[in-house]
Amino acid sequence: MHRLAQHLAHHAARPIAPWQRGLLYGSGTTLLASGVVWLALHWTIGAGQGEMPHPLEAWLLRLHGAAAELALFSMGTIAAAHLPQGWRLSWRRRWAHQRASGLVLAGLMAVLAITGYALYYFAPEAVRPALGWTHAAAGLGMALMLAQHRRGAKRHPAHGRRRATDAVDATGAAD
Ligand code: HEM
Ligand code: HEM
Repeated sequence: MHRLAQHLAHHAARPIAPWQRGLLYGSGTTLLASGVVWLALHWTIGAGQGEMPHPLEAWLLRLHGAAAELALFSMGTIAAAHLPQGWRLSWRRRWAHQRASGLVLAGLMAVLAITGYALYYFAPEAVRPALGWTHAAAGLGMALMLAQHRRGAKRHPAHGRRRATDAVDATGAAD
């Protein structure tokens, strides 16, 4: 293949732009950190113990909510660009292992958005703890799955170099 075509193909095969990845990891890390610290405070010295809410509880959730909006935006960009391309690539044997973890990631994201919404707008006191723990477990699962999915993206025969033919597959030109 011509050098320029190869160059373009190589970039076309990297559907997750650095700014999208940065936004995903930045918002994800903030969500995880604010969620875990909130859990620790709430259930040790805060409102979960029947005490006065710790002053940081409200601020942690404000931070959490802001990061959640960024995370949802970042997932929107990934839904538009990476999902269709990743889906096509995952029909190649070389990338087949990415399909299950990718689907689980998308599913966990939906669980997080739905339980997060319920926590904010509905959650009667009786179900709130269960909903909260389900939400947090989905968040932890998401972090682990993302690490796994990223490891999978690096594991391929060309020693970390994506083959130019991937781009052709990804754009559907070779189908
Ligand atoms: C149907 C669902 C999905 C499929 C089939 C899929 C497929 C793939 C494939 C084949 C790769 C390796 C090639 C490449 O880098 O493009 C990959 C990488 C990656 N995917 Fe997915 N994916 C899916 C969903 C997701 C979701 C929901 C996320 C984010 C939450 C995600 C995040 C990533 C990341 C961060 C990489 C590493 C790429 C990089 O760092 O440049 N994927 N995926
Ligand atoms: C895109 C991902 C996420 C979204 C959209 C989201 C959204 C939300 C929303 C809207 C709330 C309610 C805030 C309030 O009541 O003021 C919440 C609470 C919470 N989130 Fe998340 N969140 C996400 C990820 C995570 C992650 C990764 C964790 C990790 C531990 C987590 C842990 C928690 C906890 C512990 C609460 C408090 C639960 C309670 O009030 O009982 N969240 N989240």
